[in-house]
Amino acid sequence: MAKAKQVAKDETRIIKIFDTTLRDGEQAPGNSMNIDEKLRFAKQLQKLNVDVIEAGFPIASEGDFEAVKKVAQSIKGPEIAGLCRSSIKDIDRAWEALKYAGEKGRIHTFIATSDIHMKYKLQMEPAQVLESAVKAVKRAAGYTPNVEFSCEDAVRTQLPFLAQVVEAVIAAGATTVNIPDTVGYTVPFEYFNIIKYLKDNVPNIEQAVISVHCHNDLGLSVANSIAAIQAGAGQVECTINGIGERAGNCSLEEFVMILRTRRDILPFITGIATEQLTPASRLLTNITGIAVQPNKSVVGANAFAHEAGIHQHGMLMDKSTYEIMTPESVGLTASALVLGKHSGRHAFKKRLEELGHDLDDEMLNRAFERFKALADLKKEVFDEDLDAIVTDESREEDQYKLEHITVTCGSFAVATATVQMEINGKPVRTAELGDGPVDSAFKAIRKLTKTKAKLTQYNVGSITGGTDAQGEVTVRVEEGGHTVVGKGASTDIIVASAKAFIHALNRLHCKQKRLMDAV
Ligand code: KIV
Ligand code: ZN
Repeated sequence: MAKAKQVAKDETRIIKIFDTTLRDGEQAPGNSMNIDEKLRFAKQLQKLNVDVIEAGFPIASEGDFEAVKKVAQSIKGPEIAGLCRSSIKDIDRAWEALKYAGEKGRIHTFIATSDIHMKYKLQMEPAQVLESAVKAVKRAAGYTPNVEFSCEDAVRTQLPFLAQVVEAVIAAGATTVNIPDTVGYTVPFEYFNIIKYLKDNVPNIEQAVISVHCHNDLGLSVANSIAAIQAGAGQVECTINGIGERAGNCSLEEFVMILRTRRDILPFITGIATEQLTPASRLLTNITGIAVQPNKSVVGANAFAHEAGIHQHGMLMDKSTYEIMTPESVGLTASALVLGKHSGRHAFKKRLEELGHDLDDEMLNRAFERFKALADLKKEVFDEDLDAIVTDESREEDQYKLEHITVTCGSFAVATATVQMEINGKPVRTAELGDGPVDSAFKAIRKLTKTKAKLTQYNVGSITGGTDAQGEVTVRVEEGGHTVVGKGASTDIIVASAKAFIHALNRLHCKQKRLMDAV
């Protein structure tokens, strides 16, 4: 087989990684995060060493504004971006939140440029769109030289108009221009040609970094991003686990590991600390409750599992037979027995940090108490148990809290649940009959919270092996077009179910409040 041309060191280009998990990712159904969750995840992105964190859309709601502000105040290292439409009000509001990051604050403003979007969504003429874009960039540049402009639906935009807009916004002060495939429509060679066209036809293109932002509707977001950097793009926008609108965005872990694994033919590097990829993926799953599929590249549970005998044989002879990257390079360390009931606070804290959980003293104390209680119930406490404890303990702003639950059930009894909760600080209690223990528990919770939310999914699994394992319940609930996911874990699956349902109701409440607060 002919060997591909080796890449010389001096041909290598650095690609900036712009993470939008907290903005585009968070927009997707079920992925919403509260301010503390966003901050926790931003800290992990800092460890991952991404170049830019897009922390939210400040004008969208009070909660989004506060989250961007908090991230801008707390995170050191990466630049912090906030999204805004091409409107003066949006830009002023975004800078209010971003100014705390100083010169690392980035205003990211956008307007759609395709005929379809201009005609049907914006109902604007191309000349008006161009004028709005330039005005927005000028306003943003009055605050900071770090301005990114996105031509929404760039891939379906007529190329001469796209070039005209890009040239005008660079002249107005944009230092990054983003060419998104908003609807996940393009294919690699076409996207390559679009970026090449801009390089060849926009006279001032060298004054800005070309960014790309690919959606995954046809499963090509990563391949398209690779094609774009080959054509000259210098920044890639992506998300952990590939979450995002509809089918999601370019997956950060896949893109980064392609560059790392195929450095022989792809002359690009990123600054990503790849050993932080697995902790980032797990943290996101823990926060949102949305798991990645087992066969997901890089971070799926089976990504490094070799099942077939012939593969196992090859692996025993030499790992390079079936392994193109090592589990260690993506931060996957064996899920070993980590701690037991005699483990101390120091070991507990250290392991949590290795798993990507940086807790303040108060939360650490609460989590440690939970760990001790769990270690009394089950001899072996695994990484996954620790993740579940932290997830449970980090739910601070909860309106609804579970205090106690008792269920009687069995083959000769009508299931009855007695539930005591604290709602807005007040204890309340009720009992309900049901068709099985979970049904009776959920009926009681419904009665106490007066919720009308519809339960659309209920899954129960076990966090680790053994009959003393913690059960983990994931529920999906929906109300008024909003979907949220809730998770709960306990060695008792009825308690885990109640916790998951209450978690979902709290998230729904937060989401509804955020939307009501929206400016
Ligand atoms: O998909 C898209 O076009 C976007 C822009 C706002 C960057 O998310
Ligand atoms: Zn997008």
